[in-house]
Amino acid sequence: MTDRFAVVAPRAELAGSYRSLVREFTDAGEPLVPFTLEFPHEDFDALLGQLAAFSRGDGLPPGFVPHTTLWLVGDGKEVLGVSNLRHVLTPRLLVEGGNIGYGVRPSARRQGHATRLLQGTLEHARGIGLDSVLLTCAKGNAASVATIRRCGGVFDSEEFIPARNEVVQRYWIDLA
Ligand SMILES: CC(C)(COP(=O)(O)OP(=O)(O)OC[C@H]1O[C@@H](n2cnc3c(N)ncnc32)[C@H](O)[C@@H]1OP(=O)(O)O)[C@@H](O)C(=O)NCCC(=O)NCCS
Repeated sequence: MTDRFAVVAPRAELAGSYRSLVREFTDAGEPLVPFTLEFPHEDFDALLGQLAAFSRGDGLPPGFVPHTTLWLVGDGKEVLGVSNLRHVLTPRLLVEGGNIGYGVRPSARRQGHATRLLQGTLEHARGIGLDSVLLTCAKGNAASVATIRRCGGVFDSEEFIPARNEVVQRYWIDLA
């Protein structure tokens, strides 16, 4: 990763850029991925507090594991993408969801940002002691499949998920 890009914790100074990222997803009619993009952000300090608490494992809803939200920031000023790292896997996450979800703002796609974001998130995963991570993704999501493979993902399995009406693939990335 060059110095132009950094994968960092969310911070208040970039609230405006973060809000514009969420707006781009909404305006494009896309689902908010990762799921923390759905969290209310009018009170930004409250959002930052909530994300920090969930990363520590505090106040998690039932069934949720500690998870850390990270931003890919360009030139220190633009939030280009957002990832969410689940610290442990549950039986449900093993089927679908895995350790990491991510999304890049629609206007900044096809410039390698997902690859940068996932690489930085993998460094973070290594930093919290994980020696491998599971990535899951829809088989038809060519951009995500390419991102995962480019970051070292090794195909494990695939399964039709009726609730999604699509085939979901699983890949492992070795961090050791
Ligand atoms: C998936 C997503 C994160 C990719 O972001 P991106 O910044 O455009 O991806 P990159 O520019 O880093 O490209 C990564 C790879 O995907 C390929 N790619 C990007 N967009 C593509 C597309 N529309 N079709 C096919 N391949 C594509 C790139 O060529 C690159 O492959 P390469 O390394 O072999 O050249 C982005 O499309 C997104 O946010 N989608 C909505 C949320 C989502 O689906 N998240 C993943 C959930 S599993």
